[in-house]
Amino acid sequence: MFWMFFVALAQVVGEGQQGWQPNPELVKKLSERRPDVIYDEAKVPTYTLPDPLVCLDGTKVMTPELWRSKRRPEILELFRTHMYGKAPIGKPGEMTFEVFDLDKNALNGKATRKQVRILFTGKPDGLSMDLLIYLPNDVKRPVPVFLLLNFFGNHAIHPDPAIRIKPVWFKGEKITPSEDSRGRDRSIPVERILARGYGIATAYYGDIAPDFPGTFQHGIFAAFDKLFGEKRPPDAWGAISAWAWGLSRVLDYFEVDKDIDAKWVVVLGHSRLGKTALWAGAQDERFAIVISNNSGCGGAALSRRRFGETVAIINSAFPHWFCENFKRYNDRENELPIDQHMLVALTAPRPVYIASADEDLWADPRGEFLAAKFADPVYKLLGKEGLPTQEMPALNQPVMGTIGYHIRSGGHGLTEYDWERYMDFADKHFRQNR
Ligand code: GCU
Repeated sequence: MFWMFFVALAQVVGEGQQGWQPNPELVKKLSERRPDVIYDEAKVPTYTLPDPLVCLDGTKVMTPELWRSKRRPEILELFRTHMYGKAPIGKPGEMTFEVFDLDKNALNGKATRKQVRILFTGKPDGLSMDLLIYLPNDVKRPVPVFLLLNFFGNHAIHPDPAIRIKPVWFKGEKITPSEDSRGRDRSIPVERILARGYGIATAYYGDIAPDFPGTFQHGIFAAFDKLFGEKRPPDAWGAISAWAWGLSRVLDYFEVDKDIDAKWVVVLGHSRLGKTALWAGAQDERFAIVISNNSGCGGAALSRRRFGETVAIINSAFPHWFCENFKRYNDRENELPIDQHMLVALTAPRPVYIASADEDLWADPRGEFLAAKFADPVYKLLGKEGLPTQEMPALNQPVMGTIGYHIRSGGHGLTEYDWERYMDFADKHFRQNR
């Protein structure tokens, strides 16, 4: 027994030597700026990861059936209880959809644009989320779609003047964005996505819940938290859970839109919304493919490595993202009953893609790769290819099995390079299975 433990540990520690290496100058600069943060691989503590294929009661998971019936639900529950918190509701019975815009000749005839208001409580003056959809006109219906939440409002993702401007959150207040803020967010290459045969759908994350510590007084929390009574329990949903819940409500809409292939929806997200995409895909198996772009701590990066952003740092800077219970693990990552490779594994057997960026050391690129690698045994158990490499690839050398991974040049961001790889990955899996 003892030697087995030792081998597992040695394997984890040895990882630092292979494939991509961060620029030493950058490591030096960041370490000087934040001496309290680990940016140097040599300083990563030794750790042992929980085995995704061993149940809490010690049962070894040797069959896909046992994974499905016992271990998967157990892991999901652990993430709900200790990290992201529990969403009190699934699909609200009173929710309605209002298609308020349909233009079959959008973007110079290339696309059909739809805008749909999702009324969470069914009340026209209640909480709502606006969904913006572009579908390629030259592709047979129903169309596979990429879905992501955006940071600045739908009007910001494209200069199209027909996108409805809706108030957004700014410094704790709702403000109406100006006309000249249209198209300022360049992170969604709409025309490229359409040219490659995919639809694109997006909604503003603040429509679900604003992103500041007082969020629990607003948005979906104000609308549904009454169910908790006076005090929010320590496992009540945080903002990431709320945003993930909102993504599932978009899928509810897709299921009634005949132009969209609800069975082929790729959910993706960048950074905090990458954490959100992983959590949404883990819980809602209707998502066909899950993509995490630079999601870092609380997303794909292994918490136990403590490289870059840590549990304590994230919980103090963003106390509203996770449930209260997660704060118990500040500086005590080794006590977590889960780590982020298990979040990745919850997507299995569906395809999942994790992407990092060379200069984004805050998000721990190697920790993100290792979560993909240590999720691989679950994919293998389920008869899938999993991750085609055991070693971290070099820069700009994507690997694509059922698990995909790349680390590209540059810093934190969702770039055209990332999008092209995600569409390559979707092509591969849609060609195989659709
Ligand atoms: C901060 C935060 C990260 C997060 C990022 C983002 O850097 O520390 O955890 O991913 O913001 O959402 O852009």
